[in-house]
Amino acid sequence: MFGLATAAARDKSRGMVPSANPSLAATLRLASPEATERLAVALANVLAPGDTILLEGPIGAGKSHFCRAAIRHLLSREGFVEDIPSPTFTLVQTYVLPEAEIWHADLYRLTNPAQIVELGLEEAFETAITFVEWPDRLGTATPRNALHITLSTEAAEDLRIARILATDPRWNKLRALLPADIVGIPDV
Ligand SMILES: Nc1ncnc2c1ncn2[C@@H]1O[C@H](COP(=O)(O)OP(=O)(O)OP(=O)(O)O)[C@@H](O)[C@H]1O
Ligand SMILES: [Mg+2]
Repeated sequence: MFGLATAAARDKSRGMVPSANPSLAATLRLASPEATERLAVALANVLAPGDTILLEGPIGAGKSHFCRAAIRHLLSREGFVEDIPSPTFTLVQTYVLPEAEIWHADLYRLTNPAQIVELGLEEAFETAITFVEWPDRLGTATPRNALHITLSTEAAEDLRIARILATDPRWNKLRALLPADIVGIPDV
């Protein structure tokens, strides 16, 4: 379903990543917006309350595209069809499901770190399923048990490389989803 990225492509993926000994590390080749949607849906299927996904990458990398696909799937699984507006100006959008809330944050325009508490994000990290675009704005509020996904744009227009990293054992549940041969590859 997802292709193995080249070492050269992996070299390009940078960003804020867990410091040492990732318990899970995978690099995926997302050849089209639909491939990104498939990854988002596969991931959404194993998410539980308290799971936070931090999406890094430049403008237009596909962070919102990923979040929308995941949230649309989580809602439709429960029989809900809703618009999934961008939180660009509101900073957060929330959705209430019987089992959990879904929070979608876009922190690009966050001006003051105090807003993180005011928005209720710290509590959401504990209790909700939370997606965060531009998570570098979180600073010390970055949840240590989050899944990090860094999307990079490539020369080919519709190609994105996704670098997936986690240190918390809660994400071992992704091992069944990701092709075995790319789980646990060392950082390059
Ligand atoms: N493989 C791909 N995965 C995801 N999006 C892709 C891919 N190829 C092309 N695209 C397109 O790239 C665009 C990504 O836009 P999106 O709003 O998701 O970016 P973003 O990372 O959220 O940017 P921003 O930082 O401005 O919020 C969309 O128009 C999408 O259709
Ligand atoms: Mg976005």
